[in-house]
Amino acid sequence: MGAFPPPPVNTIDWSNVGFRIREVNGHIESTYSVHTGKWTPLKYVADPFIRIHGMAPALNYGQQAYEGLKAFRLPGDNEIALFRPDKNAVRMQHSAEVVCMPPVPEDLFVQACKAAVALNAGFVPPHETGAAMYIRPQIYGSSAQLGLTAPEEYTFCVFVIPTGVYHGVHPVKGLILEDFDRAAPNGTGHVKVGGNYAPVLRWSDKARTEGYGITLHLDSVKHEEIDEFSTSAFIGVQTGPGGADDITLVVPDSKSVIDSVTSDSVLTIGKSFGWKIEKRPIKYGELSSFSEVFAAGTAAALVPIRSITRRGTKGLGSAKNVTVSGSEETVTYIPESQEEPGPVCLKVLAELKGIQQGKREDKFGWRFTI
Ligand code: COI
Repeated sequence: MGAFPPPPVNTIDWSNVGFRIREVNGHIESTYSVHTGKWTPLKYVADPFIRIHGMAPALNYGQQAYEGLKAFRLPGDNEIALFRPDKNAVRMQHSAEVVCMPPVPEDLFVQACKAAVALNAGFVPPHETGAAMYIRPQIYGSSAQLGLTAPEEYTFCVFVIPTGVYHGVHPVKGLILEDFDRAAPNGTGHVKVGGNYAPVLRWSDKARTEGYGITLHLDSVKHEEIDEFSTSAFIGVQTGPGGADDITLVVPDSKSVIDSVTSDSVLTIGKSFGWKIEKRPIKYGELSSFSEVFAAGTAAALVPIRSITRRGTKGLGSAKNVTVSGSEETVTYIPESQEEPGPVCLKVLAELKGIQQGKREDKFGWRFTI
């Protein structure tokens, strides 16, 4: 066996990784039985397919949850580090609990992610590309079960795939979804389960055909507060009279949003820059007070939002960055002529990527080297 990690494989055009399915060596699996109360030792499966009974509650009752995190080659390509897998472990435990599944212990989760990356290390993109290996842990009820009661077996898998960033790197236009509510007030909007994603596909596909790169959800009770983007978390920037030295990052305090690891990282970085942080309900009407808005997520990294459109005017029309066209109002943060994100997004992204890719000091202990 050669030195670890092996160099990147030469079967992929690393200058154009994209965000799509690519075949790798295999994945990791472990199963939990209610009879033993234990997870089996991690098993490597040289196959992208999983074997599951057709009557498994994962397939019939949506008993599943998933995670998303990334691994990066560090400078010199001689080391690979996962970014904050401990946070994803805790988040998946929370999701599992909400949809009635046993938790995967944090150390087993981290070990499984490391093993999945190590066994596919040739598919971790080269450091200079800035691309990453996307890691997709999953947990689901896997044994046959007809009635609506807990099954006897659960499966935990970790898949990996080399990727660039979702949504690309250019500013995108956002559309508020008015006719569809992502999450019920006391429902599952705060957990990473498929049921929060599948119903959105119709709306985000439609929005894309209309020129919108990302869709945004409001609270489902009154449609008055900002929840999150369909793929990622919402971050608004307020720039005070002190300009670049007077920055406040504002994030929604809502019980229907997923606890974003990327957003948490941005807030921690922002604090270290001396910026103020506000986690509070964000009224729709406040959108025109932000100097920048960006979406934060593992797959997305930070996506600068060019504008946010809402169908059905709600009275923002008097603000200077708002245009009204028919019954539609749009808040613009980045004009069409500008390709670059705003200065706050650029500054925080440089630090975030710098830490992820090993180009900046790991001040917060976020890199887990394999
Ligand atoms: C992620 O950012 O990791 C996600 O799970 C979002 C998904 C829609 C790609």
